[in-house]
Amino acid sequence: MSGLEHLLANNRAWRDQVERERPGFFASLAGQQRPGYLWIGCADSRVPANQIIGLDPGQVFVHRNVANLVVHSDLNCLAVLDFAIHTLGVQDVIVCGHYGCGGVTAALAPGSGRVIDHWIRHVRDIAKFYRAELEAERSLEARVRRLCELNVAVQVVHVRESPVLHALGASRDVRVHGWIYDVADGLLRDLTHTVDALRAIEPSGRIPPR
Ligand code: CO
Repeated sequence: MSGLEHLLANNRAWRDQVERERPGFFASLAGQQRPGYLWIGCADSRVPANQIIGLDPGQVFVHRNVANLVVHSDLNCLAVLDFAIHTLGVQDVIVCGHYGCGGVTAALAPGSGRVIDHWIRHVRDIAKFYRAELEAERSLEARVRRLCELNVAVQVVHVRESPVLHALGASRDVRVHGWIYDVADGLLRDLTHTVDALRAIEPSGRIPPR
């Protein structure tokens, strides 16, 4: 007895329901996957990629980590990006942050010295870069919300500037979207239009003029 029998029972019930409604569903997926999207999101348990965009198994390729970061030295994320774009032929990459993100909130608090702090350091750097903008917000809650949005924008730039996308050249058009999810109302908002307006950090260290 593992104590997790209820999860295995859930799985069987779910599988049986899918097969009842769509006979042959799993057999059709066994041959290959052809997802239309790559989702880069937070590991937060309240932000399950497939569920909130209403997609079935096989429809979205997913990478999740704390605070939905795309770090240039993170071989894990870069390998996912490479595989999704070059092998699976995904054309839409969605970077999805969320309000109330624990990782982003931690970046505005004193460090604990734990391993997670090393990862969150990337968000602290963003907070430093946008310090004036964040200090203009009236409350800590508003600063966290704004930093959640800025974090999405910066990660979108990181995807766009990654060697994986550069390797494509002009041969293929890959769109990179920045979204944010509100765990309090279950709704997604598209931030993509704001990304280009931000003085986002670029890998080269060059800051585009306002
Ligand atoms: Co989060």
